[in-house]
Amino acid sequence: MPVIAVVNRKGGSGKSTFAAHVAAWCARQGHSVMLGDVDRQQSSRGWLKRRDPALPQIAPWAMDQKNMLRVPTGITHVVLDTPGGIHGFELARVVMFADAIIMPVCPSMFDRESAAACHAELMALPRVASGRCRLAVVGMRIDGRTSAAQSLAEWSRGLGVPFLGPLRETQLYVRSLERGLTMFDLPPSQAAADLAQWAPIIEWMRPVLLPPVAANDPSPSAAQGTRVGPSRPGSLMPAQEALVHGSRLMSASGSRAAAVSHSAPVRTLPVATAEKAQIPQFLKR
Ligand SMILES: Nc1ncnc2c1ncn2[C@@H]1O[C@H](COP(=O)(O)OP(=O)(O)OP(=O)(O)O)[C@@H](O)[C@H]1O
Ligand SMILES: [Mg+2]
Repeated sequence: MPVIAVVNRKGGSGKSTFAAHVAAWCARQGHSVMLGDVDRQQSSRGWLKRRDPALPQIAPWAMDQKNMLRVPTGITHVVLDTPGGIHGFELARVVMFADAIIMPVCPSMFDRESAAACHAELMALPRVASGRCRLAVVGMRIDGRTSAAQSLAEWSRGLGVPFLGPLRETQLYVRSLERGLTMFDLPPSQAAADLAQWAPIIEWMRPVLLPPVAANDPSPSAAQGTRVGPSRPGSLMPAQEALVHGSRLMSASGSRAAAVSHSAPVRTLPVATAEKAQIPQFLKR
């Protein structure tokens, strides 16, 4: 179950916008995707509420019988939207799940400095330093023709992090999100320029996002553990469960996952309940 986390401790850098787009792209590919917030702000859940059910579906966290948020059964891809200011133990716990982290970075010096500090903290974590969790930067709200875009690309390369290109500033992002949409949901002619900017980002993510395996999928191929996310060692999973108290962010790497799917049925999270849901310990801020 590939997990992509969108991380930058700088508030307002475009994390939720980016995460919604990654989830929508996965949904359009036919994947069973969950978009989950890792904080109480729950911006992504708010966005999902606006999304037309007729569009390719994106699931929110589900809640199990113990009122713990968890990945719904059958989900093959997870996108985590993280809050501004995330650091320390919370950041480390997200990294334990993630196969890839994308940092959306705006062009100002302040944004770069904040992102550099976040990068340094990420690189201190073995999963990132060893490359098991891949890391890349995307320029957010930047005109690709400007020197600001050049500076950000050079800055990223200087850190040794792939720069996947800029996403321009346009009200199309703002208006789409207000309607529960992304660029991937608009008519291609309307979003052509922006979709072109997404192409290199998708190409970088593609090996991480494929091949999928359903969470808690009891099928034989899943039980053999053949198609777990590309970079996650199976041995990490028990540790993750222990760390993430009750959240059960699991991939279907073994029979244990199948057992959970039978013994702990999940219900999708009613909106009213969702806001009061008991967020797993590591998700609390
Ligand atoms: N490419 C873009 N063009 C125009 N506006 C954008 C673009 N990307 C993001 N925005 C706008 O910038 C604002 C901040 O974006 P967003 O909420 O995604 O940031 P964030 O990093 O998730 O913030 P927070 O740290 O508070 O969670 C939003 O109003 C969003 O609509
Ligand atoms: Mg956000």
